[in-house]
Amino acid sequence: MKSAEVSTPGKLMLFGEHAVVYGRPCIVTAVDQRMNVIAEIRERNILQLIAPDVGLPNYLQDIDDLGKNPNIPKGARFVEIAVKNFFEKYAVKSGLKIETRSDFSSEFGFGSSSAVTVGVIKALSELFDLKLTEQKLFDLSYKTVLDIQGVGSGFDLAAAIWGETLWFVGGGKTIIPLDGGNLPIVVGYTGIKADTPTLVRKVEEENRKYPKTIEKIFEAITLITEEAKDILERRDWVKLGDLMNLNQGLLDSLGVNTKVLSSLIYAAREAGAFGAKLSGAGGGDCMIALVDNQTREAVERAIDKAGGKVLRIKTGAEGVRK
Ligand code: MEV
Repeated sequence: MKSAEVSTPGKLMLFGEHAVVYGRPCIVTAVDQRMNVIAEIRERNILQLIAPDVGLPNYLQDIDDLGKNPNIPKGARFVEIAVKNFFEKYAVKSGLKIETRSDFSSEFGFGSSSAVTVGVIKALSELFDLKLTEQKLFDLSYKTVLDIQGVGSGFDLAAAIWGETLWFVGGGKTIIPLDGGNLPIVVGYTGIKADTPTLVRKVEEENRKYPKTIEKIFEAITLITEEAKDILERRDWVKLGDLMNLNQGLLDSLGVNTKVLSSLIYAAREAGAFGAKLSGAGGGDCMIALVDNQTREAVERAIDKAGGKVLRIKTGAEGVRK
């Protein structure tokens, strides 16, 4: 039976999280930890999903009932809705076996849901010989994410599709590759899984209560992100570190920082990092610290000692590939 295999990178947010949900810019980088998706046409009118990483060794769903169960298990949701949306959009239908394997844990906040969504749609476009452009792949993936979680800027999908380090404006209005390369960063995982939609709604609530103030915070985050764009390309790590610290302060003021994130961030700064901030929605997941060859080891040790788990990754990774 015909099959297609693709892989998509995970991501790390560098600047501009939360503000990007309000149509503002962010800077995101793709990491060299990948999500692998193998899709195969099957005769039986069933979607079979094998996703042991998320506790689904053999999930089965009738093709005619895709998306009908309101309680699709969490690990199958993005795959099932991606297949449903693809079949509806391109008027095709078939039994399928889909297998997913990830290099990274879905707990890290590296964007496993967006990586799997892009992976499934790309694999299906190969199986059905539809040469989808990157923009079409983005649009259908973004629809899938919004169908499921209702909120999100789509930046993580852009990282999974285009890879590298990107300037991304909320909703995908502008997507430009930056000259980022492999950035000298250390990633510390808090051990706590954050729920992005909950945190986005928390900021939404603040915005409802204090619209003028929150607007000013988003404005300041935008200025930092704009400045970071040039400084990153110039590789001025001292200034980029300062901007990370400024961005962190504003994220704290939005209410998405935590004690655990703070302790890893301060540990990294005290060990000599140029700057450190949370990366992504906040509430847990990962923090990032900017280092050089002289400080990397000390910063890694400090994060470890403060209770974080150091994740070794490279940034600026390749986007979706066959
Ligand atoms: C989450 O990783 C980043 C947020 O800006 C949400 C989004 O952009 O979709 C908080």
